[in-house]
Amino acid sequence: MCRRNGEWVIILGVRAYLKKFILGKSVLKSLRFRITLLIILVGTIPMLILETVILNSYEKRAVDVRTADIQNQCTILCNQLGDLSYQQGKTSDIVGTELVQLSNIYSGRVMLINKEFRILEDTYGMDVGKTIVSGNVVRCLSGKGTNQYDAGNRYIEVTSPIIGNESEQIEGVMLVSVSTDSIEDSLAVLKERAAAIEAVAGLLLFIAAFLIGWGIVRPFQRITGGIEAVTEGYEDNYLYENAYTETMHLSDAFNKMLGRLKVLDKSRQEFVSNVSHELKTPLTSMKVLADSLLAQEGAPVELYREFMGDMSQEIERENEIINDFLALVKLDKTANTMNIRTENMNELIERVLKRLRPIAAQRNIELVFESFRPVTAEVDEIKLSLAITNLVENAIKYNNENGWVHVSLNADHKIFNIEVADSGIGIGPEDAEHIFERFYRVDKSHSREIGGTGLGLSIARSAIVMHRGAIKVYSQPGEGTTFTVRIPLIYVS
Ligand SMILES: Nc1ncnc2c1ncn2[C@@H]1O[C@H](COP(=O)(O)OP(=O)(O)O)[C@@H](O)[C@H]1O
Ligand SMILES: [Mg+2]
Repeated sequence: MCRRNGEWVIILGVRAYLKKFILGKSVLKSLRFRITLLIILVGTIPMLILETVILNSYEKRAVDVRTADIQNQCTILCNQLGDLSYQQGKTSDIVGTELVQLSNIYSGRVMLINKEFRILEDTYGMDVGKTIVSGNVVRCLSGKGTNQYDAGNRYIEVTSPIIGNESEQIEGVMLVSVSTDSIEDSLAVLKERAAAIEAVAGLLLFIAAFLIGWGIVRPFQRITGGIEAVTEGYEDNYLYENAYTETMHLSDAFNKMLGRLKVLDKSRQEFVSNVSHELKTPLTSMKVLADSLLAQEGAPVELYREFMGDMSQEIERENEIINDFLALVKLDKTANTMNIRTENMNELIERVLKRLRPIAAQRNIELVFESFRPVTAEVDEIKLSLAITNLVENAIKYNNENGWVHVSLNADHKIFNIEVADSGIGIGPEDAEHIFERFYRVDKSHSREIGGTGLGLSIARSAIVMHRGAIKVYSQPGEGTTFTVRIPLIYVS
């Protein structure tokens, strides 16, 4: 039992080793291994088939030639024998010499057999007088010469009928059996040579396959190296691997991805520096206000009140920035967790407008909702309300006193549109390109009086894009602005 356990331990150990060093290293899965194997197989199999075919046909051909030769000689000799009345036991010396010659040429055995199956002549001199009844002899006596190759015992047996000149009948049989050892010997030599050639060819093939496999996989290894270099800290590690069309596509795709990563990285950096800048501005003002108060001994209460009021405003602004900023971060974070429900869009917009009406009223701006039809759609109510709020808020903020804001809702069978149009200050074409960027504000000094962070539109756009929708702006400076939003009625995740 103990020994058996020991054996198991060894077997498991060997298995673990194989797994770790062969399968674990994925050698069998590697492209290089497979290509090498394929080339070796493709090279070796035809070589082996060719060898077998050539050697086999050589053997067959050699046996055929030898058989035909013997048959010819037999026929000639049998014709001569027809003149002799050997069957009466009067075999001549001439016949004996001829038979010995034949047996010498082919280093074989020649026998003469009469109709009674008795052996009259045997060049081996062993079986004279004995009877032989073999299938070939019987067949030959009935009129047809035979030949037979026995590959196992390595000999060719040929029989030829002897036809009497006078009787014109079969009087006996000449039987020749010849060893094929010489053929086998040359076959063995050929096989040896073939094996030597195969060994050399096999070695060359293996080296070639190894090198080709290495060469084919090389560009992919370079790509992996390039990607790893980028992972360690991407600088300008663009790939230009043009060895194959496939690697070219791969490099192109990678370069595009790298470009995108760089853009993302840049925008992240910009975002962080913008955030810290925006957050610091109100703090700086507050510090200036506080410091100037502290520097004045016995400052009047009115000054205190005024500065404190300013500081309160700065705190308010700081709060606003942080709120917008948090809304944006939250949108980014919950990008994958949309809380989709079927909503009545008319009611949703009404609710948004109701909250904003007091602000519009402060500047006597007319806020109108125009609904072309009842619309229900699959949306995330909170995110979409946030987007519409930002658009309408802007339309009020960047408007003139006594102006108007028109919000309209329409739909076809696939999408719904929301349009927010205002009679406000408008946006120039150059600015229109950038207003959806984070922290972008058209006129910093003017906008500062109005208040805002430059985050509202990027929040709105993020929310709309999450609904697989799109937002566009149409505007001329001084002629008002129209934002259009298009969102599919059915949410596609
Ligand atoms: N309806 C509008 N009319 C004119 N300008 C607008 C309008 N909406 C947005 N803008 C411009 O686009 C900028 C970016 O808007 P937004 O991202 O909402 O930031 P914020 O409103 O906080 O400044 C605004 O500062 C403003 O200059
Ligand atoms: Mg805004």
